[in-house]
Amino acid sequence: MKSDPDPSQAWALITGASSGIGEAYAIFLAKLGYPLVLTARRLDRLESLAGEIRSNHGVQVQVLPCDLADRDAVEELIVSIEVPVGILINNAGYAVPGLFLGNQWTLERDVLEVLGIVPIRLSHAFVPGMVERGWGRVINVSSLAAFTPVTPGGYYGPAKTFLVRSSRSLGREVAGSGVHVTALCPGFTRTEFHDALGNRDKVDRMPRWMWKDVDSVITAGWKAVERGREVCVPGLINKAFRILFTIMPGWIDRRLPMSRMQGNSGQSESASS
Ligand SMILES: NC(=O)c1ccc[n+]([C@@H]2O[C@H](COP(=O)([O-])OP(=O)(O)OC[C@H]3O[C@@H](n4cnc5c(N)ncnc54)[C@H](OP(=O)(O)O)[C@@H]3O)[C@@H](O)[C@H]2O)c1
Repeated sequence: MKSDPDPSQAWALITGASSGIGEAYAIFLAKLGYPLVLTARRLDRLESLAGEIRSNHGVQVQVLPCDLADRDAVEELIVSIEVPVGILINNAGYAVPGLFLGNQWTLERDVLEVLGIVPIRLSHAFVPGMVERGWGRVINVSSLAAFTPVTPGGYYGPAKTFLVRSSRSLGREVAGSGVHVTALCPGFTRTEFHDALGNRDKVDRMPRWMWKDVDSVITAGWKAVERGREVCVPGLINKAFRILFTIMPGWIDRRLPMSRMQGNSGQSESASS
């Protein structure tokens, strides 16, 4: 295993960098001196963030807009990245309201693509280079929803569970190579996530102690990946929920009100985003 690289030689590729957790990681990693490749769909937001980072932190920033639900666009994105990616933040994600059978198939397919396929496609493209160079950091932004009781008709939670397990699997494949892989599983975090989902009014009624600010979430994720932790659940309350949900017998799980509520637009899934 080689020592940590010169930060300017290891580029950080961040998906979903136009807001929330991805934007915060862009600023955090720029402060550490890492050059950035930022992607998301909203070019104006990415350009404005890139300009701010270049002038405040003096690192190079490439902006490559992409709709990650579009497989051809993802392949073009991969080909267009010519810099050595040493840090991969698989962060882009969203949830869709409504029940699975009532939604258009393309809506469900696109969200599964972004949450499930894209992180492993980007890992497949960029982790071999990290292994070859003897250093790399991968953070897969999952969710506490990976561990919560199953809700009817929402594939957000199952997709986040898949991301945790695929992340752990990849981490074990590259163990000892100098590449660390962590699944970051936040609970309620103050970002634009619930505005995009359309349940802001509902979640704003949740108690304040259930929320975490974005900076504490991303810092916990970075510390965890530096230490080689497979899974990071930021915050004591969220950790307690994770333990509770993990040890809870199935018969209790099935009787909880949340296991009968509608998936992503109900409080249950929102309780863990
Ligand atoms: N906030 C929470 O309470 C919470 C809790 C647990 C986990 N998470 C997870 O944290 C991650 C980041 O979410 P956030 O909270 O930071 O929410 P956010 O502020 O809404 O950010 C979501 C990001 O994903 C990008 N994105 C969405 N669909 C995309 C697509 N088709 N192609 C490319 N980029 C796309 C968005 O960019 P564009 O719209 O510009 O494309 C945006 O940059 C997600 O994976 C989410 O599941 C959030």
